[in-house]
Amino acid sequence: MSLPPGFLDELRGRLSLSQVVGRKVMWDNRKSNQAKGDMWAPCPFHQEKSASFHVDDRKGFYYCFGCQAKGDAISFVRESENVGFMEAVEILAREAGMQMPAQDPRTKEKSDRRDQLAEVMEAAVRFYRMQLRTGAGADARDYLFGKRKLSEQAVETFEIGFAPDGWQGLWDHLRHDGVSEELILAAGLARASQKGGKPYDVFRNRIMFPIRDGRGRAIAFGGRAMDPDDKAKYLNSPETELFDKGRNLYNLAPAREAAGKGQPLIVAEGYMDVIALSEGGFTAAVAPLGTAVTEAQLQTLWRVAPEPVIALDGDAAGLRAAYRVIDLALPLLEAGRSLRFARMPEGKDPDDLVRSGGEAAVREVLDAAAPTVDLLWRRETEGRVFDSPERKAALDQSLRETLKRIPDPSLRYHYGEEIKRLRWELFRPARPEGKRRTPWRRDAPAPASPSAKASLLASDARAEEHIREAVILAAVLSTPEVLDTFDAEIAEMDCADATHSAIRDALLRAMPAGESDARAAVAAAIGQSALDSFLSAPHLQVVPCLRQPGDAEIAALTVAEELAKRNAARGRHEAETEAVEDLEAHSDEVLTWRLRQASEDYARAQRAAREDDREFDTGANGARIDRGERDAFAALMETIRFDKRRS
Ligand code: UTP
Ligand code: MN
Repeated sequence: MSLPPGFLDELRGRLSLSQVVGRKVMWDNRKSNQAKGDMWAPCPFHQEKSASFHVDDRKGFYYCFGCQAKGDAISFVRESENVGFMEAVEILAREAGMQMPAQDPRTKEKSDRRDQLAEVMEAAVRFYRMQLRTGAGADARDYLFGKRKLSEQAVETFEIGFAPDGWQGLWDHLRHDGVSEELILAAGLARASQKGGKPYDVFRNRIMFPIRDGRGRAIAFGGRAMDPDDKAKYLNSPETELFDKGRNLYNLAPAREAAGKGQPLIVAEGYMDVIALSEGGFTAAVAPLGTAVTEAQLQTLWRVAPEPVIALDGDAAGLRAAYRVIDLALPLLEAGRSLRFARMPEGKDPDDLVRSGGEAAVREVLDAAAPTVDLLWRRETEGRVFDSPERKAALDQSLRETLKRIPDPSLRYHYGEEIKRLRWELFRPARPEGKRRTPWRRDAPAPASPSAKASLLASDARAEEHIREAVILAAVLSTPEVLDTFDAEIAEMDCADATHSAIRDALLRAMPAGESDARAAVAAAIGQSALDSFLSAPHLQVVPCLRQPGDAEIAALTVAEELAKRNAARGRHEAETEAVEDLEAHSDEVLTWRLRQASEDYARAQRAAREDDREFDTGANGARIDRGERDAFAALMETIRFDKRRS
């Protein structure tokens, strides 16, 4: 249908926007000035308590300072009623007392046809509801009220019905009422027989859930099998001229209204979940219609609430479903268009949770809902160990790719910051007690097992320390005389590795006791094969003093150097960890950032120091000091000292 020139202008001119909007909002009378047409209210498009939604009645425009929703009367009706442009114009024209122009015949036919189909669907809703009250519906009633514990009220509200177990129950009923065969088939309620007989009902012996669109028109059914042997537990209407299953959501219209009153918008998996949630007081619940959530459905959800909560089953399939939704949502995310993910207890769906734990249990699960970024992080890191530079680089690469998919620059930046923080927590030095935040539930234990977690932490520093210890012990084994000089230091060496501490103890016992063969003493303590495998480690094959056993001077130098480096690394490590703890206690972002920068610089300098192009100074005791490493370390210490002075 085309509108004559000037029609829309006249429509806008006749309408008062504040009157159109006024049916959906409560004006803030203190802030508003009716005489000037300057009206304020809590925004109907996002949840808020303050009044950021402004209507300029003279210009006929609205704007929300909170969510940036803006437009005129037509867009307001489109958004708030979830209708198309023409439908919005129709609604407003009726209100303004304007005659809609005559429809062109093709459009008129189409909308007449939709009206006819919708009428057939309504007749089917009535038929199924009536059947639930008859003798044929006795088992279905037992099932709904007994087994599923539904209230009378819920069965009424959701218009639940029953399709009797015959081939033509609905068909005969509708035909008797004069509905044409073609319309019943086109509504998806019956199917033509392949054998040339009478068409037969699509839904037989099933509990029937009418599915209505955003305007409340019946467009389809979901039918749950009564017979547990039935191949399909749920059967949904086929797609028809009325029903596009990827564009509609179960319970959308009531949920929109409830969300407008402040209820959290929850996306569950099934019809029964939606009904149970509503009974539990969570009336803004919807579900997709037998398929995974689609992009169109996400868009619809965001028109209702800025941060719908996706309710997931507490199993691996639930997580996989969440990841699919995230992949779909990433390119669409914006400020004010986000998602949260609430995970049901293992093995339960929302229906089970409402029945077993009531409103409180649901509330708890919703409160623990994780933001999208936490699930992104979880997907990239769960069950993996990042114990090599290659693996860390692969993680960084994949995180960068993921972030690139967020088109909104500001949001991308904030996701990046949060990812950096989570990454820092994963790779930072170990902390004494487990007060790390976990990416799924903020108060739950970390997803990785404790040993896996330990190996994630500061694995570079640990590996280095481990090698230094091995070199020291091997040097003593090869040339036991050095123990005379270094016994105190070696006794203090708290080895993380059990083999190392056993070797150390055996050496410290054997030598002062006057044993002549250190290897034999250690072999006796830890076993010959353990000793052999210790000595055959690749990192020991390149240590000069081990290739020239008995040269006490070289062995002593090696031990001295390794002990010094080990202690220096430990000192830095502890100072750094301690400083981070302090800083976090102050939750001073700037300092934490500076410290992070400094320690990143330091790590970079250490990496560079392993390469060839480094510059050395000569220290007071004649030692060679790498200049880049020294400067970076000095900067790191300066940052730490700066913070110490402040506290
Ligand atoms: P579930 O199998 O999780 O069902 O399917 P449920 O909601 O827990 O059902 P009850 O509690 O056993 O009655 C969730 C949704 O998946 C779709 C339906 O939309 C259902 O509501 N589904 C499921 C189908 O379309 N077909 C099926 O065979 C099963
Ligand atoms: Mn269920």
